[in-house]
Amino acid sequence: EVLDAAGKYLLPGAIDAHVHFRDPGYTHKETWETGTASAAMGGVTTVFEMPNTNPPTGTVEALNLKLKSAEAAYVDFGIYGLLGEDNLDHLEALIEGGVAAFKCFMGNTFGNLPSPPSGAILEGFEIVAKHGYRVALHAENASIMARRQTKLQAAGRCDPLAHLDARPPVVAVEAVARAAILAEWTGARIHILHVSSGDELRPLREAKARGVDITAETCPHYLLLDEHAYTDKKSLIRVNPPVREKVHQDQLWQGVADGTIDMIATDHAPHSHDEKHREDIWSADCGFTGVQTQMPLMLSQVVAGRMPITQYVRMTSLAPAKAFGLYPRKGALLPGSDADIVIVDLDRETVVESGELQSKGNSTPFHGWTAKGAPIHTLVRGRFVMRDGELCTEAKGHGLNVRRVQQMPTPTPRNTHTTTAAILARRP
Ligand code: NCD
Ligand code: ZN
Ligand code: ZN
Repeated sequence: EVLDAAGKYLLPGAIDAHVHFRDPGYTHKETWETGTASAAMGGVTTVFEMPNTNPPTGTVEALNLKLKSAEAAYVDFGIYGLLGEDNLDHLEALIEGGVAAFKCFMGNTFGNLPSPPSGAILEGFEIVAKHGYRVALHAENASIMARRQTKLQAAGRCDPLAHLDARPPVVAVEAVARAAILAEWTGARIHILHVSSGDELRPLREAKARGVDITAETCPHYLLLDEHAYTDKKSLIRVNPPVREKVHQDQLWQGVADGTIDMIATDHAPHSHDEKHREDIWSADCGFTGVQTQMPLMLSQVVAGRMPITQYVRMTSLAPAKAFGLYPRKGALLPGSDADIVIVDLDRETVVESGELQSKGNSTPFHGWTAKGAPIHTLVRGRFVMRDGELCTEAKGHGLNVRRVQQMPTPTPRNTHTTTAAILARRP
């Protein structure tokens, strides 16, 4: 069967290291079927899915429930296991059960999972480090932002910008720096999710210079939107961490250009229309849909000359594959070929229409944006999941759990004689 791709670009499928598919628990927001259909339509061939579902993915029982829901997937997926204070005893069973990586919520966000104190994070890192798995962090300091929000609410602030004011950059910088220190001491490899401020680049650069195995992602909304979004989009724009002022956007592009930021992920965080649109900012759910719009939005930046296409591929495919153990190939351990491919047309103009997205949570701040550059065919392990811009509905259920394919050696901890185990063994 011949596919005419004359004049098009054939790229490796995008790997989105940060999506929330809500299933089980919040299936009115998204399901594995709708979330992965949205991915397929967006040129995304593998997603890594977050544990703030209900139940949270902190035990093997919860993981198995999620794997059952995920049988409807169109595209391949990895599952993040939860790393929390109450489930440290379950981390190794989660590895055995088939998670691809771990996620730790240092600050409060959707799902209200408690933020582990540093002591629990350190112990969790020690356990996970032994196996070489990466821990992704929602790096925001829970205490700083809770106190800010209380004060803002007491002062009667409930406008959209109050959300930005509650989470100034120090909220993220403190958590990034702390996570990097704990990783350095334990040898854990870590990933900083949704970098939103220029200020986070300094602790990232310092940690990389010290040899910490730390990767970082930013998202299209931090690169493409600024504080004007609060006027235009009101509560729809509420997201953790917040979209910030233009100066941060410029610094993030620098971080992209110099490699401090390794990858672009979407933080696909669907909610219902009603949950996103509220007069009182504090009652609007945080986050919005994203997995289907990343490629057209970011290819538009490629077309506009802001980023070479090779760098786009590095940030959306190569870097996540390396960070999460799918490099150089995953197909060897899964049925089918290694052909995770997206064919894109850089001349094609499309308009982002929230009503046309496959995701159930179709509120997007990019509604109405014209994009230049669009995915037209998506293949997962050699099979079409999107063809000529249409979802291949017969490919429902084609997606498989990638787990973590490559075994990566653990980095050396800075200080082996102060691990929890070494301390316990030291004196009679
Ligand atoms: C995410 C969600 O809704 O699950 N929301 C968000 O604002 N980003 C959670 C998260 O990634 O923090
Ligand atoms: Zn988060
Ligand atoms: Zn998220």
